[in-house]
Order: sequence, then C-alpha cells, then structure tokens
Amino acid sequence: MRDINQFTITEAVKQSFKTEEGSRLKFLLESFIEHLHDYTREVNLTHEEWMGILMFLYDCGKISTPERHEFILLSDVLGFSALVDMINTRGGATEGSNLGPFYLDDAPRFALGGDLGKGRDGAVLLVQGQVRDSLGNPIAGAVIDTWQADSAGTYPIQEQASGQDKFDLRGVFTTDADGKYWYTTVLPKPYTVPYDGPVGRLLRAGNRHAWRASHLHYIVRAQGYRAITTELFFENTDYIDNDAVFGVRRSLITKLEPVKKTDTLPPTDVAPNARCTFDFVLAPEG
Ligand code: BEZ
Ligand code: FE
Repeated sequence: MRDINQFTITEAVKQSFKTEEGSRLKFLLESFIEHLHDYTREVNLTHEEWMGILMFLYDCGKISTPERHEFILLSDVLGFSALVDMINTRGGATEGSNLGPFYLDDAPRFALGGDLGKGRDGAVLLVQGQVRDSLGNPIAGAVIDTWQADSAGTYPIQEQASGQDKFDLRGVFTTDADGKYWYTTVLPKPYTVPYDGPVGRLLRAGNRHAWRASHLHYIVRAQGYRAITTELFFENTDYIDNDAVFGVRRSLITKLEPVKKTDTLPPTDVAPNARCTFDFVLAPEG
C-alpha cells in the first residue's frame, strides 16, 4: 500500500472494500470508484475545485428537507434522473419521465368523465385515451393516478398557506372494460423548478433557465404489469425543446386541439374547450 501512486490508488480503494463476490453492490461500488478516479485524473482536479464540489454538496444537504430535496433537483438538472428513467423504460412500454416532488399518495378517486379543475381559471381540457399492453390488448381496471399544476403554473400543494387543498388538481381514475379513460381538468402552464438554492446557482453559472414545459404527471398501474411513471407534454408549447429537467420525449408529446361542435366526445361532468388524446402502454411485470 505504501507504494501507492495516482494510478494504483484506484485498485487499492477497490480492494479495501470486502464486498460479496459477484454482488450488485460490489459492481456498483467498483465502477463508481473507477469513474470517479478517472474523472479526477482526467480533469486534473485542483484542491480548490475539489473543495468547491464538496461545499456544493454540503449546501445541497443544508437546504434539503422532505419537501425540498435539493439532491433530487440536482439529479434532475444534470439529466441523471432522466437517464435512469430512460434506462428503465421497457421496450414497447410508454417511456418513463420525472416523478417530480409533488406526488401524493391517496389522491381522491374520480369516476370517468369527472373534473379535476373544480371551476379554476383556465381552458377546460379533456384528456382521453386507452391503457393497453404491449400487444395492443386493452387493459380494463388499470389505475391512472394524475397530478398537475394549474393555469398559473402552480401546484395547489405549494399554496396551502393561502388556503388551497393539497389534494386539488390530482385524482385517480380506473379504466373501463375497453381500457379507456377520460376526464377534464385545466390546461397547466409552465413553471420553474426551485432556483433559490445551490442548484439555482449551478443553473445560473451555466446560463440555463429553470423552466419546465407544461405537463401532466401520471403513474399508471395494473395488476400483472410494470407500473409506469411518466408525463404528458403538449406540442408547440414553451420549453418543449429545452425543459430544465430533460423530461420531454417525442413519444410523450400530445396535440392540443380545440373542441368543435361536430366532435363526438365521451360524457363529462364539465364541457371541455380543448382536448388531447394519449394512450398508455404497459409491459408485463418481471
Ligand atoms: C415537477 O415536474 O413537478 C418537477 C420536476 C423536477 C423538479 C421540480 C418539479
Ligand atoms: Fe410537474
């Protein structure tokens, strides 16, 4: 060990961990050490830069709470979250995208055709489609959990101090016998990810903005299928080509269309003035 140098140290650190031969932990740890050391050698990291990185991580920790998780935000703006979503998308299934920080368990259940908007400002949007398996068979009884921002780009959960209900603009729907779902809501607007902390400093240092393209969030589950967490975006809307957290995928962009008198629409509690269609595809479990 005393003959260690900047090249042999990588193997020495790997050997110092006595992890189970062939285990996933051993694989993850050793690969991480190799990449971290390679990066450090490649960029010739100075002491000031090394301490700058550690202080940045310390600042992320200082600001983090269960509601404001700066490390997840860092992962998001570095495209790390999106990359994990991409790697874990099953062939043939709907592509995954950001969960984001605003998901809540136990959102209220709605009947098909129900309205999440509850008279809020904004265009009334009909969202409709089908949940299918990768062979194209409809999945009846699939559960669609959705949540979103309002027409000002704010999640009600962020506005509890001004009297908003955290369960507003979220709901759970169950597909019918043909795997179909439909509901109305308000058309969401873009919003910024939090940029008043260290991740905001990083964005500014890189001349980047903090805006997310407007989107609807979904988790879709069905028995015997792998659940998907994803987002739905709208064609020709702001930030669709430069979403701050790299959540947009071509396959997740839907077209917003005005509702015409001649359109045949499913029954809804509130009459929509815009509509979009999106089908979810689930891959089998396992
Ligand atoms: C969101 O989509 O809600 C979100 C995603 C990443 C960071 C902040 C918010
Ligand atoms: Fe969001």
